Formats: sequence, structure tokens, C-alpha cells
Amino acid sequence: MEVPHIPVLKDEVIDIFKEIKSGYIVDCTLGYGGHSEALLKSNENIKLICIDQDSEALEFSKKRLEKFRDRVIFEKGRFSKVIAKHLDKDIKGILADIGVSSLQLDKKDRGFGFDSDKLDMRMDKESSLSASDVVNHYDRERLEAILRDYGEIREYRKVADIIIKKRPFASARELSQTIEKNFRKRGRIHSATLVFQAIRIEVNDELGELNRLLESIENSQIDNCLVAIISFHSLEDRIVKRTFKEWSKSCICLPDSYKCTCGNDNALGKIVTKKPITPTKEELKANPRSRSSKMRVFKIEREKAKKDE
Ligand SMILES: C[S@@+](CC[C@H](N)C(=O)[O-])C[C@H]1O[C@@H](n2cnc3c(N)ncnc32)[C@H](O)[C@@H]1O
Repeated sequence: MEVPHIPVLKDEVIDIFKEIKSGYIVDCTLGYGGHSEALLKSNENIKLICIDQDSEALEFSKKRLEKFRDRVIFEKGRFSKVIAKHLDKDIKGILADIGVSSLQLDKKDRGFGFDSDKLDMRMDKESSLSASDVVNHYDRERLEAILRDYGEIREYRKVADIIIKKRPFASARELSQTIEKNFRKRGRIHSATLVFQAIRIEVNDELGELNRLLESIENSQIDNCLVAIISFHSLEDRIVKRTFKEWSKSCICLPDSYKCTCGNDNALGKIVTKKPITPTKEELKANPRSRSSKMRVFKIEREKAKKDE
């Protein structure tokens, strides 16, 4: 079976979850099943709940993981919603490798790549908002806001202006060529990279999904559980870093409080990775697409954190 996506930080993911002796790991972003297969192979004690919103990815991985079918539950949908159905199970690990898969990037009809024939970018082909809606129909204010907030583009006003003057766009190719003509490349980075990133985040509500996933983990009863999040840009990494820091705080009183009134037992557990785990030189060489990946890990230990007080 030819696999269209190389899983990033695979050995590091296996290593993080290797101590789990029973229960489930939730793979929130099944994709082409690389991480799931590696986890099932490396640890016979665990079962998996595998989620993806992309039907194409899900169908592929169901076949890939056929031999493990007694140990896997497949779910189609957005992870922030689907995970809620399973939070009463014995969950001992949660993995999210957020972002797009290589197949989504490379397949011309999905509209993610600069050279795509379509302007789509929906991970779930059944969802209502597409890149074409954003690029061709958003008003100036909304367009500027996503370019500024999700692309962190300094010249967001100029980019929005160019898009509005030139639209409608029929394909991702037309859009990337227009951006390329008007903006210089920064080093080896294509000038449309941040524009595409901003549109993709908006179309798939990527930051909202990540925030809601972390919120439902926080509000659940799961305990003794490792949460590993792999992100690919600083906006996501910032959310993960900030949330893990909040989760690790025992005292949640305001910084200028005269004395502690919160009980000082509010930590959800501890941060496992003080610095994010990043790809080795060997991995970068074998898979350049892993270059911006960062994994942060948190261990939820609600009861232990309370007892240690
Ligand atoms: C980077 S790929 C994962 C690759 C996978 N770890 C592997 O080894 O093949 C990300 C996958 O997550 C899915 N995805 C991203 N955000 C999602 C969300 N909010 N809910 C469900 N699936 C999501 C995408 O459709 C994509 O297939």
C-alpha cells in the first residue's frame, strides 16, 4: 500500500505513549494512519479511537489498519465534537497532529496547494465554507482581519486590496500567481504561503477547533492521560503553550491578590516537555515538510496534583 503522507515525529510519538498499559489513545487527526499504525504496532496493550473529518483519509486508513480492526474505533467528524462522545472511556492518551496532510496539499482538486485547480481548502468536503467563499465574497474588513490575525501578514491591507480588485478567482493557482506577481518571495518561502495559511485556518476554523479540543479535555473527568499536540505554525503552538501553562498552575488567584484564596490545588497535572520536541536533522532531511513541526506534551494527573499539595 503506497502511503501518501509521512508521519512527523513518529519515533517521538511512540516514545511518549510507550508506558501506557491499558485503555484508549485518541488519535484526533488520523490522516493516513501513520501515527495510529505505529502506536498499534508498538504497544499491544492499547486501543485507539481514530478521528478525521476527511472522508478520503478515513477510507484509506480503515484499509491500512484493517488488521487491527478489533482495537480501533473510527469516527468521521471534527475532533472537538467527536471527542466529547468518548470522554467517559478509559482514555490514557490523546494525540493531535494538526494541520493538513500531504495528500490534501498535493491533490490538485482539494485546493490547498499553490498549483491547485480549485479554490476549496475544506478538509471536510461536506462543510459549507470554502476558500472560494472567503476569497471571492468576504468583505474588506473580514478579509483584512483573517490576513492579519491568521496569516500575521504585515501588509494585510495591501493583500486584501489586491484580492478585492482582482476577484473573482476560480482556482488556487490564479490566486497564488496574483500574490506572487505583487509580492517578493521571502527567502525560499513562496509569497502566497501566509495568505494560503490564513484562508485555510478560516475555512477549517483551525484555531477554534484546537481551543475547543483543549477546553473539552480540561472540562472532562479523564485522568492519568498524556496529551500530545503537534502544531505547524506559531499561532497554534502559542495556544498549546499557553494552555499547558495554565493547566499546570496550582494557584489561579489574580497576580496582584493579597493572599491565596483559590485553594492552591487547581493544577490539572504537569508539563512533560519544557521545550517543544522538534524533528531531528535526519527527519528534516528525509521529510522537509516536517520542518515547522513542534510537539508539546502534558500529563493530566488531577488526583495526584491534589494529593501533592
Ligand atoms: C497532518 S494530517 C495527520 C497525519 C497523520 N498523523 C498520519 O500519520 O497520517 C492532519 C489530518 O487531520 C485532519 N484534521 C485536521 N483538523 C481536524 C479536525 N478539527 N477534526 C478532524 N480532523 C481534522 C485532516 O483532515 C488531516 O487528515
